[in-house]
Amino acid sequence: MSILVTGATGKTGRHIVRELLSAGKEVRLLTRHPERVDKKPGTTVFQGDLTTPGTLSEALDGAESAFLFPVLPAIGPFAEAARHAGVRRVVLFTGAWAAGHTVRDLGSWVLPRYRAAEDALAGSGIAEWTVLRPAPFATNALWWAASIRSGGTVELPYPDAVCPVIHEVDIAASVVRALLDDGHHSARHTLTGPALVSQAEQVAEIGRAIGRPLRVTEIPAHRWRADAERFLRPGIADDLLREWSETAKDPSTALPVLPTVAELTGRPAHTFTRWAADHAADFAGT
Ligand SMILES: NC(=O)c1ccc[n+]([C@@H]2O[C@H](COP(=O)([O-])OP(=O)(O)OC[C@H]3O[C@@H](n4cnc5c(N)ncnc54)[C@H](OP(=O)(O)O)[C@@H]3O)[C@@H](O)[C@H]2O)c1
Repeated sequence: MSILVTGATGKTGRHIVRELLSAGKEVRLLTRHPERVDKKPGTTVFQGDLTTPGTLSEALDGAESAFLFPVLPAIGPFAEAARHAGVRRVVLFTGAWAAGHTVRDLGSWVLPRYRAAEDALAGSGIAEWTVLRPAPFATNALWWAASIRSGGTVELPYPDAVCPVIHEVDIAASVVRALLDDGHHSARHTLTGPALVSQAEQVAEIGRAIGRPLRVTEIPAHRWRADAERFLRPGIADDLLREWSETAKDPSTALPVLPTVAELTGRPAHTFTRWAADHAADFAGT
């Protein structure tokens, strides 16, 4: 019996695959583009699109459990197809906003959308489901990679905004524990990094990792928003700006640091300093 990993080619999913393989598991990878996958021993690659449930049956048939990547409208249909195929356990990640840890999060654009997806899994009849709700990803710092590589300045609307950003390795390790261990069924765990880090501190850490001091310039929120429309839904851009403006003024309004990663994985969550070191190659060069 094997474990199906959707989102397996992504920044988080590739670590889920790596950890499952080192635990000696047989892994099924779902991708829309099998020709791009570097196939490793112990893996089987399936072509499928989460938005088209008919393309998933081969990947699901015979799988014991599955990690479900958050293509939100696809969660309910995937869970239904998985239950029909006899999949016993499904682990999904959404985002910390879904937990409503702050008053701001309760009014966010994304909360009802994440909750609807989580509830679709919870109500699907899958025997064992777990939802993980990661804090904003440290990988969001990759948005700055092009300007850092070209020697430019990082433009931020709220350099002092703080957040307990999480290393993708910690999200993956938590997913793997929820897939392999008992005791996480019907649970929704919020995952965070080990400390609040401001965006200006993140830029400084990246500068230290690549051995080059970096500059930050404050820009008006409307300029960031206009640019963000290229890669973010408007509702998420607004949620982010609200969070950044509030936490820059008052860090006590940030998502709190939680011990969940250490509780799930048995080791502390990685710092942003470690993330920057792991990703130095993404920011180095011109
Ligand atoms: N950024 C944050 O702060 C944050 C916080 C909380 C939650 N999230 C969630 O995390 C996600 C990003 O995670 P990531 O950085 O690990 O992902 P990523 O690097 O952007 O990779 C996306 C993965 O999803 C797969 N995928 C996308 N659409 C698919 C579809 N229709 N059918 C099958 N596979 C599909 C892709 O597979 P192929 O291309 O190989 O098919 C790829 O493996 C976001 O979408 C968001 O929902 C993000």
